Amino acid sequence: MSSKSRSPRILPGLERTGEALPLWTYASAELLELEYREFFLKSWQMVGHECDLPKAGDFLTFDLWRDSVIPTPKNFPDIDRSELGLQEVRMEIYRGHILVNLDGDGPAVSHMMGPIDGEVAAYSPEGYEPIGEPTVQVWDCNWKLAWDNYQENYHIPIGHPCLHRMLVENDEGVTLDNGINFGVFEMKEKLSKVPRERRYQELIGCTDRRFSPDKARRWLQIAMNPNMGIEYYPEMFALFQVLPLGPEKSLIKLNCYSPPDLSDEEREMQGINLAILDEVNDQDKLLVERIQRGVRTSGYRPGPLALEESSVYRFHEYVRETIPVARLREPPIRGMLERENARLQASAASEAQ
Ligand SMILES: [Fe+2]
Repeated sequence: MSSKSRSPRILPGLERTGEALPLWTYASAELLELEYREFFLKSWQMVGHECDLPKAGDFLTFDLWRDSVIPTPKNFPDIDRSELGLQEVRMEIYRGHILVNLDGDGPAVSHMMGPIDGEVAAYSPEGYEPIGEPTVQVWDCNWKLAWDNYQENYHIPIGHPCLHRMLVENDEGVTLDNGINFGVFEMKEKLSKVPRERRYQELIGCTDRRFSPDKARRWLQIAMNPNMGIEYYPEMFALFQVLPLGPEKSLIKLNCYSPPDLSDEEREMQGINLAILDEVNDQDKLLVERIQRGVRTSGYRPGPLALEESSVYRFHEYVRETIPVARLREPPIRGMLERENARLQASAASEAQ
């Protein structure tokens, strides 16, 4: 059976602590060249939502470091493709989300999402509308650091006191063998002492006209390697995306979308949640930029990854398996990284035979 048709599997939890990627991989321009080719050009990238393209002739632009994509629902009637050198790329609309795959290979998004499609379907994200302009920030960190941070919940009690006051702790979600990870966060019964957080907790049950009681008081977070997250809340959803700008610079994009028929209470919840998202985003920026500065100091060593950080460990394994040079404790001699990686790949292939 080919990897395209094989159904995604849920991976068992880890039994041992895992090893993190070596520090040099977080500041290497040469490695980023390989990562861009192996991860970003070969994976699905979220470029927007159907509601961003309401009529024929509308278009979006999506910049992925060296490449740009222009998703459009219909052909451009007034653009000469031969002149612009536009190339068609593989595109898929999954429950309203528009994704492109520049390499064009690999399984469809709907296939990859198979085991959790029911969870997404419960939100009917197809009919949503954009909430304002996307938040776009430049973070001074390697893209993997922002992605490590997004995937683990270990830092919530220290890094995000607001989330810690509102949500029941959830150390680990469910990880599929195709790099998709999802987790459910239940709202705490105990009310936060901060008025706006308490108000959100009090209001959250009001969305039960759209959700069954088991889904009305929770947040669902889906992370998709190498760089995308979708968070479904009862009153909106948010897309999170990390895009490399350089070895120690990343673009962070946050797009939020709303269901069309909000009640007054849901609108109030949405306003509170948007403010909380901004607060959490600022806290994450501070956290990862501080760690990135540590990458450059000689005294900093990556510690073992705890069992609760299994999604980070699995992501690091995925990096090591795809780009074996990332296993090396020290970086290869300048200018030799690509050749060294090819050598390691060839020796791994001959060992496997
Ligand atoms: Fe965070």
